[in-house]
Amino acid sequence: MPRNFLETMNSSIRPFRYAGANSSLHCDQASLTSLAAKFGTPLYVYSRSHIAGRFEIFDRAFAHRPHLICYAVKANPNLSILKFLARMGSGFDIVSGGELERVLLAGRRAARRAVFSGVGKTAEEIDLALRTGILLFNVESGAEAELLAARARRLRLKARVSLRVNPDVFAETHPYISTGLREHKFGIGIGESHKIYRQMAKEPFLEPVGVSVHIGSQIRSAEPFGVAMERVAELVEQLKSTGIRIQYVDAGGGVGVEYVGFDAQDGKKRAAFDPQDVAARYAAAIDRALRGLDVTLLLEPGRFLVAQAGALLTRILYVKRNGRKNFLITDAGMNDLIRPALYRAHHEILPVVRDRAAGMSTFDVVGPVCETGDFFARGRRLQRAKSGDLLALLDTGAYGMSLSSNYNSRPRPAEVLVEGGRARLIRKRETVADLLRAERSGLL
Ligand code: LLP
Repeated sequence: MPRNFLETMNSSIRPFRYAGANSSLHCDQASLTSLAAKFGTPLYVYSRSHIAGRFEIFDRAFAHRPHLICYAVKANPNLSILKFLARMGSGFDIVSGGELERVLLAGRRAARRAVFSGVGKTAEEIDLALRTGILLFNVESGAEAELLAARARRLRLKARVSLRVNPDVFAETHPYISTGLREHKFGIGIGESHKIYRQMAKEPFLEPVGVSVHIGSQIRSAEPFGVAMERVAELVEQLKSTGIRIQYVDAGGGVGVEYVGFDAQDGKKRAAFDPQDVAARYAAAIDRALRGLDVTLLLEPGRFLVAQAGALLTRILYVKRNGRKNFLITDAGMNDLIRPALYRAHHEILPVVRDRAAGMSTFDVVGPVCETGDFFARGRRLQRAKSGDLLALLDTGAYGMSLSSNYNSRPRPAEVLVEGGRARLIRKRETVADLLRAERSGLL
């Protein structure tokens, strides 16, 4: 890492702030008004330096021990983002052949720093990963271990394997994104794992060298990570006594961020979220549990690296009043950003041009999709707005575009990456023709 990189590092909570004579929102030095004019809306906007800063914060928190950050591709799989993370030395956590193809495009060498998670890997996906020579397979069942052994034997390629164990730890988060309890489909019970490790050790083409866990996502306390790691450390010791030497411990992802509160709006209201402090506490909890173990630590952060680097820029189509409620109807919908509909997730919404004279009102911010669940906010106090005004939905860099769909035959948004004052189109806006292509060929 060049020395001056640290000095230019962006360590604030978000890269979005008001600037300029008419007080308009910027991503780093790029004006969102100009970006909307140039690239259209809805538009995902990400700050490159913010992602780099978060990577650096996370990396430094573990600097004292051998480790590799394996960015969770699912959080935001855009090729340009993968490519620059690969250049920063990141590895990758992938969950499908498609994600592996993306990592291969981002950098062939980086693909050898990939770990492959997921409960339902197919034989084709396993073969691609074996041929690529990925770092580790995070195996999630005895049946998967058998299939992996058979494919590796057939290709005469060795597979380094980690069992994803289920530590039976409760992590306070949304039930849809909690994974570390026995009732969840993920991982293998620690008790059962011994037998599978023994079986794998007998396989000539499997090398059981790792233990992995992932207890859930958007976890705001370091404690459950520490508890899970203690259970992993105990397993590592037990395996050692049976002759299985574990070289990699994979702590998974899940470090949460602050979605509520913002420092852009009035310059006073600051979220109680310090990314450096969060990373340090997380690292300390893991360290405490792993003390004395001679292993390389793998980490799979997704959200922590990219969520707050991104905003979804949308234009208000209509302001509608129905007597009881005020609606701002935006050109972005639940197909572009499903987190509020799916998890009742909160995203801060800022007017792109701040106008203190406009006054405030209470609004439901909704999209054009034909579902009552198509909302971004309900009963939110916002600056009064008119048709044509722009809004920014904050903290949408993770699980925004990656969870988007074409519901209602809506083409997905474009994505731009801001580098200082310049913005680069890193994904073209989809067209209706793109959506129809796969069906037209089969038209009767
Ligand atoms: N590793 C594994 C094995 C995972 O399953 C996940 C996320 C991660 C790492 C990264 O977790 P993160 O650091 O981003 O929390 N769509 C949901 C989040 C689903 C997370 C799924 N697994 C959301 O929008 O909140």
